[in-house]
Amino acid sequence: MAALLPDVAHAISCFSEQGQPSLRDALLDLRGRGFASILVVPLVLPMEPSFMNWMTKSLKRWQAEHPSGWPPIRVAHDIAKSPHFEPLLAATVAGAAIAPVVVPDGVKPEASLIPAQKRRVLVCEGGACNAAGADAIWGHLRNVQERRKLRVNGSGTMTAKSTCLGPCALAPVMQVFPEGTYYGGVTEPAIDRIVEEHLLGDRVVDDFAYQPTGRKQRLRSKSQPDSTGD
Ligand code: FES
Repeated sequence: MAALLPDVAHAISCFSEQGQPSLRDALLDLRGRGFASILVVPLVLPMEPSFMNWMTKSLKRWQAEHPSGWPPIRVAHDIAKSPHFEPLLAATVAGAAIAPVVVPDGVKPEASLIPAQKRRVLVCEGGACNAAGADAIWGHLRNVQERRKLRVNGSGTMTAKSTCLGPCALAPVMQVFPEGTYYGGVTEPAIDRIVEEHLLGDRVVDDFAYQPTGRKQRLRSKSQPDSTGD
């Protein structure tokens, strides 16, 4: 693709959710190669209203986690608004092939496999958690789930988004079952540890876990290990 774009030295495809390489890994890779600038072209159709917000917050988080060596990063606008989009769509439609006809067998009702999964991870997508970057957490978890084959490894893990899980002050929050462990202030590196130690190793990660104490809790910081109160 880079050969068609005269000002582009290198082009790669990546995924914001469920695919490899992830957008985060791709950006870290490009940062390591020392390019003068990075341009992200989101191929999201139709463009999700929250995507640019997610993108901005995710870039901030990733740059905070890896503070040095970043070139300027630009993000292209909605590709569907380009004047070239309609001709491209027309050319694509013109080249459409006939899809194979699926003949229902009419005999057996559809069947489903019951997955041998004992773990459930809920990622809160309530208002406070969204504002704290829950989408980035969700995207990272889904990428790791794919890469580490979490659906079948360990006890088998299914992941899902949820509405508010309750402890909004700990946003972003996720909860791991069957223990029902709450994790707060979750980041991508925290996800990596929770996957390794809890989902695959069956050990709760105390650094990010919050136990029900019967009292209100705040997010812990490194300088404030025990911040229960109120
Ligand atoms: S919005 Fe996530 S816990 Fe309330």
